[in-house]
Amino acid sequence: MLGVDFEPDRQVSLAAPLGSDLAFANRFEYTPCMVDIRKSWDKIAEPYRKRYEISTDVVHYGPLCPGEDKLHILGDINGKTVIDLGCGGGQNAIALSRMGAEVTAVDFSHEQIRLAENLASEHNAAIDFITGEISDLSRLPKAGFDIAISSCAIAYVPDIKSMFTEVYRILKPGGKFILSDMNPLQYIMDEIDGGVEFNHKYPYDPILLKWRWEFDELQRAPGFQHYVRSISCYHNALTAAGFAVSKILEPKSTPDTPHIGFSREILEEYKYIAEHIPITFIMTCRRP
Ligand SMILES: C[S@@+](CC[C@H](N)C(=O)[O-])C[C@H]1O[C@@H](n2cnc3c(N)ncnc32)[C@H](O)[C@@H]1O
Repeated sequence: MLGVDFEPDRQVSLAAPLGSDLAFANRFEYTPCMVDIRKSWDKIAEPYRKRYEISTDVVHYGPLCPGEDKLHILGDINGKTVIDLGCGGGQNAIALSRMGAEVTAVDFSHEQIRLAENLASEHNAAIDFITGEISDLSRLPKAGFDIAISSCAIAYVPDIKSMFTEVYRILKPGGKFILSDMNPLQYIMDEIDGGVEFNHKYPYDPILLKWRWEFDELQRAPGFQHYVRSISCYHNALTAAGFAVSKILEPKSTPDTPHIGFSREILEEYKYIAEHIPITFIMTCRRP
């Protein structure tokens, strides 16, 4: 399914050790070069926004996951300084701004930032958007933020050690970091005939997956890659960076979520998996 025409911009050695099982059946294929996913995000930004219909009313944490209106993780953020890391089309940044926060939002895709700026201006939301790499926040001052949030972006980041160290540096003492993404468990199983087969190994070590994202609007599906990491891998990297992990949440999957379109797609294709495991996990951390 995945070809060799990934348009790799650079050949680099892999940042993390790969698991021993590199044969990802039909779904995934390993190639030893990195895909420039920043360019791929530029290409899919517009159709992604249309297809996934993410709410700007309520802060979301991931597909099939209850939003902030149900989970109350952030609490009262009126007047707080909040940074959204890997902000995509700006939906969470806008929802945070509606809650009264002073919001900065970072993403390395120019196109995502352009769309986010447009959407924020449609909503009269004053947000400071920055085009940049979230594992290098050196242009931001230390201890400048009360809260950092990153939803569904961490799997794309090769160097989580740098990112967590940077997030720690830009947070005020006592500041919160809320990290969420999709549950690694879903990657070890395939849904077949309304049941599951366990065809892939657990990510004991981070696994790099390469794939394509198809959109009707795009003639050629851009190549992507992301890391599948265990929750313990994230936990241990966060504590190594100095964070205290307060809670790990694995909410029961629900269609009642602000992450609308992606949730619908998962339910159509992976109903059994979604019914049996939490699709999104959330980690809440505190900078001592
Ligand atoms: C799945 S989208 C999530 C967007 C948003 N947080 C949300 O939940 O709707 C992932 C975003 O992370 C951004 N991203 C991925 N890796 C990044 C990196 N290393 N630095 C900055 N942005 C990154 C992509 O450009 C993309 O906009």
